[in-house]
Amino acid sequence: MVSDDSEKAEFLEERRGKFNGQGDAVILPSTVEEVQRVVRCCASHQRPIVPQGGNTGLCGGAVSRPGEVLINLRRLNRILDIDPINDTMTVQAGCVLANIQQAAIESGRHFSLSLGAEGTCQIGGNLSTNAGGINVLRYGNAREQVLGLQAVLPDGRLWNDLTELRKNNTGYDLKSLLIGAEGTLGIITAAVLKLHPKPQQIETAFVALRDLEASLELLTLARAKSGGALSGFELVPQMGVELAERHVPRCSNPLPGDHRWYVIMVYSGTGLELRTILENTLASSFEKGTVTDAVISSSEAQTAQIWGIREGLVEAQLQEGERYTYDVAVKVSQVPDFIHRASALAEQRMPGIRPYPFGHVGDGNIHLSLFQPPGYDPARFRSRLPEFDTLIFDLVHELKGSFSAEHGIGLLKIAEMTDYKDPVGLSMMRAIKQAIDPLNIMNPGKVVATQSACQTSSRQ
Ligand code: LAC
Ligand code: ZN
Repeated sequence: MVSDDSEKAEFLEERRGKFNGQGDAVILPSTVEEVQRVVRCCASHQRPIVPQGGNTGLCGGAVSRPGEVLINLRRLNRILDIDPINDTMTVQAGCVLANIQQAAIESGRHFSLSLGAEGTCQIGGNLSTNAGGINVLRYGNAREQVLGLQAVLPDGRLWNDLTELRKNNTGYDLKSLLIGAEGTLGIITAAVLKLHPKPQQIETAFVALRDLEASLELLTLARAKSGGALSGFELVPQMGVELAERHVPRCSNPLPGDHRWYVIMVYSGTGLELRTILENTLASSFEKGTVTDAVISSSEAQTAQIWGIREGLVEAQLQEGERYTYDVAVKVSQVPDFIHRASALAEQRMPGIRPYPFGHVGDGNIHLSLFQPPGYDPARFRSRLPEFDTLIFDLVHELKGSFSAEHGIGLLKIAEMTDYKDPVGLSMMRAIKQAIDPLNIMNPGKVVATQSACQTSSRQ
């Protein structure tokens, strides 16, 4: 148990600073049995529990409120098994993602989940939020990386299904329920993860595009010609490069010139002439006019420079003033339409607002920030957030997209669950929550809040 207030701070405050937890207790169990004991004790006193991993979430899913007990899994951090024949790794929930990736590499394999917070986030949190990241195009979301799961249920029982089976059609897929449940159905304590062959070649290109529509033409061609080697396809706007260069010292543009849109393309695999294939795809796209310029990395330093821009454009946002942020998904084919329409709607509503769309265009997942017009009063800008939420989410809904692509619901998007989810689906979720957590003590008020659940933080 962490009792010192200053030590508690790192567990209570969400990193982005939007949510500040005020939970009574922070507990760091070191065994699954200890997790069970704490949960049983909380259940008998009807004390709400907030499970937490690396606390890198962006939606308030791991934030605790007065009266709640926060259980952080960081001490359950052992890799339990690496099995080369089954091609699996069994890990405890508190393992840091980067350590799992490293362990896979050391045994000649590859664990595909990769995202900005990988040096800090824990696999339990990644699974609880069904994290996405930069390799989803090739390998799928976190959910697709899991064969087996172990979790402590809200009454303290252990559900132990650490299976390595590749086929198992024996009723409801319970692991898929717990994955993405943001800790509302139980506390994930361990998982069996799928491994993949370690790519022997990785080719990374930074590509300037004719326009936004060209991203889809290039994506389609690359998929057709790469023999399945295309593993990353990330959209970078000109403004992203500019902000990264301006605000983040290590960042410099790998492809200077007046280009409005870029993509980062990654080919990875073994036994194919990936560089030649990538060169051919870029050359034919250049001839067609889809691509206006491109550089294929020829060194680790150049690859780092390219990814430095992608990471820098996220980091740089903090220094650029107030902004609204959205993490939405639409069909891949509708990405340009969404970006054009969302930008135009925002600009009409608030002249001078600066749209900043970036991210996983190959998955149809766009991170859209809207920066305040220069000189606009920050408090007034913040007060207009609900208006812009409605504007953007209504458009996403019209396009049959999702108001939360990969960051989850937490506290932040509770209202959108009611506003935009299918009511039948939502009532099924509530019934599942009620059946598994009848006392409503497991991360209450998150994801499928009941009417009475209080919200302490304003939506921002
Ligand atoms: C990213 C985070 C914001 O893709 O999801 O950089
Ligand atoms: Zn992302």
